[in-house]
Order: sequence, then structure tokens, then C-alpha cells
Amino acid sequence: MSNDIKEKILSLVSEYADMYHKPRTYKPGDKLSYSGRVYDNLEMVNLVDSALEFWLTSGRFTDEFEQKLADYICVKYCSFVNSGSSANLLAFMALTSPLLEERAIKRGDEVITVAAGFPTTVSPIIQYGAVPVFVDVTIPKYNIDVAQLENALSERTKAIMLAHTLGNPFDIAKVKAFCNKNNLWLIEDNCDALGSLYTIGGTTAKTGSFGDIGTSSFYPPHHITTGEGGAVYTNNPLLAKIMRSMRDWGRDCVCASGQDNLCGHRFDGQFGVMPTGYDHKYVYSHFGYNLKATDMQAAIGVAQLDKIEAFVKARRHNFEFLNTALSSLSSKLILPEACECSVPSWFGFMITCREGVNRNKLVRYLEENNIQTRMLFAGNIVRQPCFDSCEEGNDYRVIGDLKNTDTIMNDTFWIGVYPGLDEPAMSYMIDTIKTGI
Ligand SMILES: Cc1ncc(COP(=O)(O)O)c(C=O)c1O
Repeated sequence: MSNDIKEKILSLVSEYADMYHKPRTYKPGDKLSYSGRVYDNLEMVNLVDSALEFWLTSGRFTDEFEQKLADYICVKYCSFVNSGSSANLLAFMALTSPLLEERAIKRGDEVITVAAGFPTTVSPIIQYGAVPVFVDVTIPKYNIDVAQLENALSERTKAIMLAHTLGNPFDIAKVKAFCNKNNLWLIEDNCDALGSLYTIGGTTAKTGSFGDIGTSSFYPPHHITTGEGGAVYTNNPLLAKIMRSMRDWGRDCVCASGQDNLCGHRFDGQFGVMPTGYDHKYVYSHFGYNLKATDMQAAIGVAQLDKIEAFVKARRHNFEFLNTALSSLSSKLILPEACECSVPSWFGFMITCREGVNRNKLVRYLEENNIQTRMLFAGNIVRQPCFDSCEEGNDYRVIGDLKNTDTIMNDTFWIGVYPGLDEPAMSYMIDTIKTGI
């Protein structure tokens, strides 16, 4: 009986989604978002299915989502979390675990990164009391200038933490070789690059699988969405264990939500100076957080992951469409370029205005004409108010003059390539850019 009711509800939800959440085709006057959710009845059915089950915290959909995402990226371990920022926090903090012994990042140790990007790639480093070392980027790839890595290295360097900017992979071959040579950890912030490919030594793999840890965001503009959500992934069993512990309050026990005594030794253990047999569920091997997401979010993600190949294909197609049409403006605008050995899964289409074209005027014109634009997030993060209380040389270091990073802050913006944009929409974007410069 209850199954009959559930089938009826889910069938009605499906009908409702088909009726009221139809994908829109472009009509003149529509506002063109830089990105957004793309979904159909399957996401809504999964969401309601999970709601009817009312498990709420991580459960069967979370297990399925983590396995599917790990399979997609080709990594062994994956943990679903409540945002990309939480994923970055967890990835960085895992590297401070005492379980890593002499390789653990300590306060005052340095992490090489870039200043042109999203703030929460950098904030865990600062919050912990480690020192970000900012290296300039190159234009038009918008990723770290690997020629400056040696200058950034010091005796205290422990890790490199970088995003693949707007889906364009950084020079993974050089960065990884540098990490291997100097015994550094590598965190790939893969939040904007799900599905990007990179080839090293004849082997092609997904970004996020090259570093020690990869991170994802599933906030609605991203390649797939769970509303709020993110993930960390790794092939390293120790890092996977540390991240699970820190995600789940810092606990030592690995029982899932609602599970007790999986190992059969819940009341037998001896942990340091604690009383013998203290309930293992309440033994804390780390100072942790609770960064878990809900099963309802995972339920949406399971349906989204079935569509990832189509999403990535559409993003690549839209990028090429814009790139071809805007190439006639290359004397006025610098157009983006993919990193060597990569096939990006683009998050957006980056444009840098050459001398004589005013970025702010162009952006305002596009916005007034219903085309949503975005900056490359913080621009040069060192110039943001959050850095006012930080002291250069002490709280952070800068290599060189960050000239290109400043160019990005002053002259760069980006527009969308997401699957919700059809060719008439992009043709309108192209015509408007042409009249606006
Ligand atoms: C490169 C990068 N890292 C991290 C994040 C943070 O993700 P979230 O918004 O899910 O916290 C974002 C957000 O868009 C991002 O672009």
C-alpha cells in the first residue's frame, strides 16, 4: 500500500516537473545567466523519493553518489560534503593531521598558490596559520606561471593548492614534477573543472585525479548541482580516512550514520590515556567539523551525474561557438586558450580587454542588455579587504609583481557557456559584445 502511494506521488512529481520545469529556449528579451541548474523530472523524482524516505542525513543516495563520482573521476575514495568551500577546508586541514608525521603542514609552513581565483581556495591556508605564497598567472590561460615555481620554493614549502581556472587545467605535468621533486602535497581545486581531461605520458585522465586530493563544488552554476554541495576525493587511503574523520566531527570510528559497532570492538579499545573500553563512537582522533551534506542533496546529484557527459559536451560546444565567432575581435579582446595536453570542461568564457577597451564599460553594457557577466572571482585576492589585516612577508608572501593577476582584476571578465544556453542565445551574446566594444 505504502509503495503504491509512493509510486503515485513520484509519478505525479514527474508529471509536474515535465509541466512546470520545462527547459526554456531563448526568446529575445530573456536574461542570459552566466550559468545555472540544468535538470528534468529525474532530479525531482529522486529528491522527493529521498524526502519520503526521510532519512535526511547521509544514507543510501550519499553512498551511491560518492561511488558514482569516484568512478567518474577514476579515484578510489570520495566523500560528499556540504560545499566546495568545505571540500577545500577539509582537503587542506587533512594535510595538517598528525597522522602524516613529518609531512604534516604546521603553522608557519608555506603553500604555493595563485592570487587570481576563488577566495576559499586560499582561506583555509590563512585560517590555519600557514602562509600562502602567491605566484603570478599567465594570460590567456589564467593559470599559474610554472616558470616562477622555483622562486616560490622555500625550506618551509609543504604543498601546492591550485584551481583549474574556469575549467582550464593548469600545467599539471610541470606542477606534479615540481611536487615530486620537492616532496610537496598537491591539492587540485577541481570545483570549476569537473570532466576536464589532461594527458601525461600518453595517459589521459580527469582533473582531480592527479593531485593527492581533488575537490568539487556542486553549487548551482557548476557542472552538476546538488543545490549546496561538494566533494573531496583521493587515491590515498590514509588521506581518505583523515578526511572522513575530520568531515564527521573528528571521530576515530568509521560507522556510518545510524550504524553501531561495525567492527565488533566498540567497547574493547585502548586509546592513549583514555579509560579502557571507552565507546569508540566517541573517540576523537582529530579536531573535526561536521561538513556532511544531506541525502536529499545526494539524491539530486545521482540524477545529475547521469547527465555529466552531455553537460560537458554542451559546455565545450558553446565555448567553441563563442571562440569562433569572437575571433574577429582579437585585436580588441584577448580570447582564452586551453592549456597544452588538455581538453577543458569549460566553466566559462574568459575575456581580457586590450588597451583601448574599457572592461567596466563593456561589462555594464552587457548587463544592461541582459547578459550576465562575472569577474574572475577575487581578481587579485591580495587587494581584497579581507587582506587588510594581513601582513606581507609574515602572513603571506608574493613572488614578483603579480602583473597579470592585476591585469585580470582590471581588464578581465567572463560570460557563460553552460548547457542552458542555446545557439540563438549565444548569437545574441556575440552580437551584443560586437556592438558594445
Ligand atoms: C574554484 C572554486 N573553488 C571553490 C569554490 C567554492 O565552492 P562553493 O560555492 O560550493 O563553496 C568555488 C565556487 O564557485 C570555485 O569557483
